[in-house]
Amino acid sequence: MSGLQLPLHDPEFYRGDPFPAFRRLREQSPVHWHAEGGWWAISRWDDVREVSSRPDLFSSASGVMIPDPAEIGPGDIDLMLFTDPPRHRALRQLIRDVFAPRRIRALEPRIRELARGVVERIPAGAALDFAEEVAAPLPTIVIAELLGIDPADWERFRSWSDAIIGELDPQVPGRRAEAQEALHRYFLEVIEDRRRRPRADDFVSGLLAARERGAPIDENDVYCFCWLLLTAGNETTRNLIAQGTHALLSHPEQLAQLSREPGRMHRAVEEMLRWCVPSQYMARTAACDLELRGQKIRAGQKLVMLYGAANRDPEVFGPDAEAFRIDRDPNPHLSFGYGEHVCMGAGLARLEARLMFEELLPLLRRAALDGPVTRMRATMTPGILHMPVTFA
Ligand code: HEM
Repeated sequence: MSGLQLPLHDPEFYRGDPFPAFRRLREQSPVHWHAEGGWWAISRWDDVREVSSRPDLFSSASGVMIPDPAEIGPGDIDLMLFTDPPRHRALRQLIRDVFAPRRIRALEPRIRELARGVVERIPAGAALDFAEEVAAPLPTIVIAELLGIDPADWERFRSWSDAIIGELDPQVPGRRAEAQEALHRYFLEVIEDRRRRPRADDFVSGLLAARERGAPIDENDVYCFCWLLLTAGNETTRNLIAQGTHALLSHPEQLAQLSREPGRMHRAVEEMLRWCVPSQYMARTAACDLELRGQKIRAGQKLVMLYGAANRDPEVFGPDAEAFRIDRDPNPHLSFGYGEHVCMGAGLARLEARLMFEELLPLLRRAALDGPVTRMRATMTPGILHMPVTFA
């Protein structure tokens, strides 16, 4: 044992600056028994890849959150996220087409139009809450459209998703139980409507038709897919836009370089993903007794993969791994996970972020942070709740 005492189960740790602690973990105790939480913390890039690649040894079926009664787990909802092969592959196959690269590419003109609309509403010369007014609308509207839901409902969607993800933070309005119930009622009505009047090219109608053809799902699974996409794609992408903007504004030389070379936007978005870590970790449970980097892991013990630590592993990212560099190449960050459960929405999130930053870039050169940033009290997605920014 290393003797390292770190509050790895505490939301305050993640919304502060966890990176010095991550460095100590990587160096002194890469497979670290976190006694207070009763789980293993995995901090090196190689090990995070290894754990993500072996669902036979490291299972998702007992949940992927840090063990805490306040966190969502398999007892609350039946998500594909909480399944292992072969069921996981069958479920993933059912929605694979929605995220096929050609389908995502086809969304570009519409997402560009939405991003431009958000940017055009930015008032000149006045401070605004960037997180609320600029980063929040696009991801929720895009998911609403993807799910075939009336985009006019996006604010309700957003408040439900916030209440579900922000349960640990009293600043976030609404409580999870009520939000879950409201969301459930909402989607049951949508499912009922699509059962009576199927629509062409519609997410829910497609799943119901697959079920008719014998796919191994019931109506509750259809609801769970909607729930998963809403919560998986909303906060994370919003965090990427808000945290990425914060990174650019606090690294003026990087912003200046990007302004001179806007063709580097793809790389810049990858670096925002690596450096900002919109989703901090995912967990697994050991399926049997095994050994990882010399540590004996017992069947049933949880392992938490700290993506922020892996993303700054100098063995992979070199001696400047801690630096934010918009031209970093290669950049094999693990912010979307890896292997069996690798993020299905990665292409969509990358597209949304790129288009948003392309629209924002001319304004960012004349923008400045205008007060303290408030982060959400959460372990997995301690994103930015409020960020005052002035655009000159
Ligand atoms: C910056 C934005 C995003 C980040 C950082 C992110 C991160 C992640 C991570 C780390 C996983 C891996 C879970 C695991 O290994 O257990 C994941 C899975 C997933 N993500 Fe994302 N995500 C983002 C955006 C999105 C979007 C926009 C969508 C869809 C609308 C989405 C849908 C999903 C789904 C469906 C899964 C589950 C995959 C599975 O269980 O096989 N994500 N995401």
